[in-house]
Amino acid sequence: MQDELELMADADARAARYIGSVQTRRVFPDQEALDGLGRFSEDLPKEGRPPAEGLALLDDAGSPATVTSNGPRYFGFVVGAALPAAAAADRLIGAWDQGATLAMTSPVSAKVEEVAAQWILEILDLPRESAVGFGTSATACGITCLAAARRSLLKKHGWNLDEDGLIGAPALKVVVSEKIHIVVLKALRILGFGKKDILLAPVDAFGRVDPARLPVVDDKTIVCLQAGEVNTGEFDPFPEIISTAKAAGAWVHVDGAFGLWARASAPSRHLTEGIELADSWTTDGHKWLNTPYDSAMAICRDADALAEAMNSDAIYASGSKKAQKNLTLEFSRRARGIPVWAALRALGRTGVAELVERHIAQAKRLATELEAAGFEILNRVALNQVLVRASSDQTTNWIRSEVERSGEAWFGGTIWNGRAAFRLSVSSWRTTDDDIGRLIALLIRLQGQARREEVSQ
Ligand SMILES: Cc1ncc(COP(=O)(O)O)c(C=O)c1O
Repeated sequence: MQDELELMADADARAARYIGSVQTRRVFPDQEALDGLGRFSEDLPKEGRPPAEGLALLDDAGSPATVTSNGPRYFGFVVGAALPAAAAADRLIGAWDQGATLAMTSPVSAKVEEVAAQWILEILDLPRESAVGFGTSATACGITCLAAARRSLLKKHGWNLDEDGLIGAPALKVVVSEKIHIVVLKALRILGFGKKDILLAPVDAFGRVDPARLPVVDDKTIVCLQAGEVNTGEFDPFPEIISTAKAAGAWVHVDGAFGLWARASAPSRHLTEGIELADSWTTDGHKWLNTPYDSAMAICRDADALAEAMNSDAIYASGSKKAQKNLTLEFSRRARGIPVWAALRALGRTGVAELVERHIAQAKRLATELEAAGFEILNRVALNQVLVRASSDQTTNWIRSEVERSGEAWFGGTIWNGRAAFRLSVSSWRTTDDDIGRLIALLIRLQGQARREEVSQ
């Protein structure tokens, strides 16, 4: 016992030192840290090694080779840092080591996740009768929502998927935005939809589905829209498309991995207008809500549809429709809803709204000041995404890799309408206005350096 407590105290102390360093440590590791990863290339030991030694190796060789996505100047992939409240709850549930399958295996998990589910519906203002499954990712939750969609549409057509399977079932089609995130296509592929079953809905100049060119939808169609396009942060025009789709009897699913959170703040809520009319939604905690990773939600208006599609009741483990094992892919699972509960409790409605508003304001400042400095901004910045381009593909890519090399900040690159760009996502609770100023100064300095080098060539 004493050894165990000492090991845990050591882990806590190391974690605390790491957290204490995130303001100042390099954002992308340097070559020496990457080379240090060679220390993990050991043979599988025949006899067990002391746990304290493994922990020390993980920290000494591993921590320097992390990307500081838990810090203030990580602008990649729309992933926020972990809020202290959520990270602390995560540590405690790690010690509990509960299988949050159903109330029998963890009464506390069942209770707190039920509260978290209700709070999610309230803060996102989605139909209160919806079921909420706490899954690992928008990818996994997309699979669960789309499985519920498919089963429900087939049921309406008199086909019992559970009994009769897919072979011979009425053919369903799926309409997705041309700019839909790849993980929705992955979810569809896993569920057995081929390319021939998927119709791409053309988008307008902003990357939103154009309602005038929406493929014909009917009562055997699943329509997939998005709240927050991953490059631009744009929203599909929900009111028009959803009312057309619903009138035709289609199922509408919205991928709102990060964009759904725009709904939590009054000034940006209009972006999500009409979204509440959809049938299912996915969103992440580990993006804009700033929970630790492996935190996402599958939200389904028809609670029974999700509970029936995901049911895994067994003689020895049968749960209610609200049991998380009956709303997610996993049977054995950690209580992913608890860090969500902790984040929402610590922030409150006001705190979530402030987080969203601050990031949108910071993104707008980035766009304004970078444009004034001669960068091209390729999107209209309504959310927390800024798509930036320097004078050419080559300079754009060079600046991105120089930022990475500097260790000062990090963001990813992309191709937007055939041209190289970088994607700045503002979503960390740690990012201050000063961090935004530092990023702007760095980009302007590198742009100046690139120009001087072009001139001298
Ligand atoms: C719009 C959108 N959908 C889905 C995803 C995938 O989310 P996850 O990584 O949680 O599966 C992302 C991730 O960037 C995203 O931006």
